[in-house]
This record gives sequence, C-alpha cells and structure tokens, in this order.
Amino acid sequence: MAIKNLIANCQLRITGMNHIPVLLKEAIALLAPKTGEFFIDGTFGDGGHARAILEKIGSHGKLLAVDWDEKAIVNCKLQIAEFGNLICAQSNYADLSKILKSKKLDKADGLLLDLGFSSKQIENSGRGFSFRKDEPLIMTYNNSSESLQELLNRISTLELEGIIREFGEERYAGRIAEAIIKQKRGIKTSKELAEIIANVVPKSYEHSRIHPATRTFQALRIYLNKELENLTQILNHLEDILNPGGRIAIISFHSLEDRIVKMSFKDLAKKGRISILTKKPVIASEEELLGNPRSRSAKLRAAIINKF
Ligand SMILES: C[S@@+](CC[C@H](N)C(=O)[O-])C[C@H]1O[C@@H](n2cnc3c(N)ncnc32)[C@H](O)[C@@H]1O
Repeated sequence: MAIKNLIANCQLRITGMNHIPVLLKEAIALLAPKTGEFFIDGTFGDGGHARAILEKIGSHGKLLAVDWDEKAIVNCKLQIAEFGNLICAQSNYADLSKILKSKKLDKADGLLLDLGFSSKQIENSGRGFSFRKDEPLIMTYNNSSESLQELLNRISTLELEGIIREFGEERYAGRIAEAIIKQKRGIKTSKELAEIIANVVPKSYEHSRIHPATRTFQALRIYLNKELENLTQILNHLEDILNPGGRIAIISFHSLEDRIVKMSFKDLAKKGRISILTKKPVIASEEELLGNPRSRSAKLRAAIINKF
C-alpha cells in the first residue's frame, strides 16, 4: 500500500495533477461501481473521477477512459502502470458506441461524463482557454476541430454575435462581436482577445463577479467543440453503450447543458427506457464550494437503464 501511494504521488508530481474532481463523492454514490464491473469515463481529464471508479471496480473490473485531448490521454497511459485494467482512447465521447465496437468491448455497467474543460487545460494547455494568458487562438480540445483563428477569419459580425448570445447568454454580445471583427487582424492571443472584450463592456460589468470575457470565451469554446451536439448525440445512444441496469452520471457546468440532460432524461423515462436517480440536480455542498470554487456551477444528474 505504501509503495502504491508512493507511485501515485510521483505520478501526481510528474503530470502536475491539479484539477480537483467536482462532486466526486456524489457521482460515485450514484454510479455505484462494483467489483468486477466495466465502466467508462468519457471525459478522463486529470483522472480524478476515474481513479475513484478504479478503486471501486478493483483489479477484476475494467475502465475505458476517453478524452479528446492528447495530453489527457498521455496522462492516462502513464497510469496504466498502476492500473493494468485501464484502457485509454483519444476520441470524442459522442462516438462511444463506435469506440466500443472498434475495441471489441461489450456494453458497460456505468458511464461518467464530467463536461467542459479541466483546470489543467486552462492553466497549461497552450490552446487559448485562458483569458489571462498570451496563447494562440485555438480553443479546441483537439486539432481536428476548426480553431478560433479559423472561425474569426470566416465569420460575419452577425454570426459571431449569435454565437456569443446563444452559448454565452451574454447581453453585450452585439458590441463584443463588432469589436472583435473590427480588430480581428490584430488579435493574436487569447489575452489580447480578452482585453478587447473588457474594453467594450461597461466598467461595472456584472458588478465584477466574473471577468468580462468569461461568457464570450465560454460561448466560443462550446461552439467550436460542438459541446451541445456531442451531449445530445450520446444521450440518443445510451442503450448502445450501457447494459440494462447500467448507470449514467453527467456533471454539467452550463444551464444549456443541464437543460439538455434534464429534457433527455425526462423523455427517456417517459418511454420507460431509464429511471431517473436524481429528481433534482445534485449541487456542491458548502464544504466543497469553499475548497473548490469551480464546483459553484456544477449540476449532477444520474439515471439507470431499465431492465425489461
Ligand atoms: C472537466 S474535465 C474532466 C475532469 C475529470 N473528471 C477529472 O476528475 O480529472 C473535462 C474533460 O473532458 C474532455 N472533453 C471535452 N469534450 C470532450 C468530448 N467531446 N470527448 C472527449 N473528451 C472531451 C476535456 O478535454 C477535459 O479533459
């Protein structure tokens, strides 16, 4: 046990594991992983939730870890030395039914999705997620999606305004889009983009509760990574991925995502295909909020695939 902890600690240092998993206890309680079960973590990230699942399923169980981000998968592969029953795949979780087929895996007993990005991606992905850093305008989790730079080169002010309004729920979307398009040739980094946004919104922006670029950055990330489409796609294919009796838990950070999960669960439950395990979304406790401000907007919903 001491050696196991030592290896884990070394890996923490090597990989700089600094993302605190959100709603960890609550998600594990709802997923209820048991010895020998096969689980999927569709958004592996820094592996915080995955590690807790691996501990529950034990060496006779199996975990498929999926992430779009190459760095997350490099980190995943480093952990195979400790967990021989970990399978890592760099893919979009929306393609999970195809991934299972290509890896000749059966349906799973549980699936976790912890949406969005990890703290590590904000801190050091180098992909422009942070408005405090001079990073290139990419904002995607992988290289196959259209980058922010490419989007800005082809989009009109009106289209950009629509994206910022719809996915960021930003009331100053019009003036922000106008300023970005006007100055797009001069914008080279995420920090420069954030400064342009900060300069066109009122000084009292949301009473300084959040950085003025937060909503715009969120909108661009959701649009470029097709985050809502991916979520809708997987919710339409749950029965291809999970066994009857299989559990799904989804942690979302955005009201649009939570609405998609809520409506889809409701619809599937009405058709008798799933039973909802969370009448209301589970939110972070006071204690978690104090230790991890990122948990502030997290909502967890879970369901179980019905047996016939
Ligand atoms: C919030 S983090 C997950 C953190 C993780 N639960 C932990 O405890 O470390 C979300 C992860 O999902 C990944 N991601 C986002 N969209 C994805 C998608 N469509 N397919 C696969 N991975 C995705 C991101 O790259 C990021 O690593």
